[in-house]
Amino acid sequence: MNLPDSKQRIAQLKHLQAWETHSARLLGGWLPAIRLWEAKHEVGLHLWQDLETSREIRTRLWELRVNRPDTAAVTAGVLPAIQILASAQYDFELIAGIYLGVKQALAQAYRDYLAKTHTTWDAPSIDILTRAASQKESQIEWAEAYLQQVAYKETDQHLVQRWTTFTRELIDATGSVTGENPSIALPTPPPGYSSRLPFGEARRDSRFKVQLQGFERPPVEDTDAHTLWQFVSYTMEMQAAETLGSVLWEVDGMDWEFYYDIARHCHDECRHCKMGEERVRELGHEIHEFPQFVGNYAWRQIYDPMRRYAMLTYIIEQDSFALKHETYKNYVQLNDHASAEAILYDIIDETMHVRWGTKWVGKLMEHQKETLSLDDIISECRQAVLDNSLAPAQRSSAKK
Ligand SMILES: [Fe+2]
Ligand SMILES: [Fe+2]
Repeated sequence: MNLPDSKQRIAQLKHLQAWETHSARLLGGWLPAIRLWEAKHEVGLHLWQDLETSREIRTRLWELRVNRPDTAAVTAGVLPAIQILASAQYDFELIAGIYLGVKQALAQAYRDYLAKTHTTWDAPSIDILTRAASQKESQIEWAEAYLQQVAYKETDQHLVQRWTTFTRELIDATGSVTGENPSIALPTPPPGYSSRLPFGEARRDSRFKVQLQGFERPPVEDTDAHTLWQFVSYTMEMQAAETLGSVLWEVDGMDWEFYYDIARHCHDECRHCKMGEERVRELGHEIHEFPQFVGNYAWRQIYDPMRRYAMLTYIIEQDSFALKHETYKNYVQLNDHASAEAILYDIIDETMHVRWGTKWVGKLMEHQKETLSLDDIISECRQAVLDNSLAPAQRSSAKK
């Protein structure tokens, strides 16, 4: 059997990592509009897994002497199709297109690669792509179950079918996710299908009551009420994940590493939210007993993505440390080991997030040719958080 040569393999890997990156960005853009709470968590995890796969493929490409995989040809082969996929109208259509269309094609491409490569020469690729294929397959398995759960009506099933078929035709027209076939003119979506992104509001499913304003912080001496408030507040961090998802999608043309850091940040905020959920449950409650507030996502969307990201990192996260350290010490004194450890892990993540803020805000300013100085942007963002934040603890931390 004649195996594809290294030149062909390199070309394929370049395309595959780009599909992983940009389809994950589209998932991020849709995160606020995905209705089912558990699905938000899954999507937040998957978009991070996708960027991790992209990183591993890029590392392999580097070994294969490719320093800059994002060539104009690769970008031109992937981005126009992703833009068309962004015109899905319903969250279940988007999930069908990305999982049963794009991810299915990626999983198949990894399996094809593995079946036809040299087990000794190309062993490092085998290691990476075996893991990538099985991770994609489990993501797809999740999506199949999710679609059965949410798109059970005949009309919805029809839309899922139609969008999946359309996505597969679209991918074929690009010349496949490996870019190995000649491309043809991309198909146009059904009439009335144009992008609904970016989303101005974050959706919550029908189990939740939604309110605009966050909760007042109870007195710290009221230990039970304060601990419950603390971890219910963590569940509101889904809004931070949703803002980061919007940044992942809306900021176009940045270096790949930016998307890698934002995807991790987005997943971290989902984890903080889950940490809140788990602790609330341990305290004898369910999160649906408490209204979710979604106003902080909504007002941040009024600003451009650079400012949104600066508000999160330079203000909200940076200014939260004093309260978090105080809370950590209180839990240690109270012998509440579980709460103390949860806060400690959160502080560790938040330290990274703030560092990423200093790494990327300046670059985002350059990218959008911002005329104000960094100091002016930070003052503007601090004022915006003070004026608009619907979480009382965020407002009082930002007063400094
Ligand atoms: Fe967080
Ligand atoms: Fe954070």
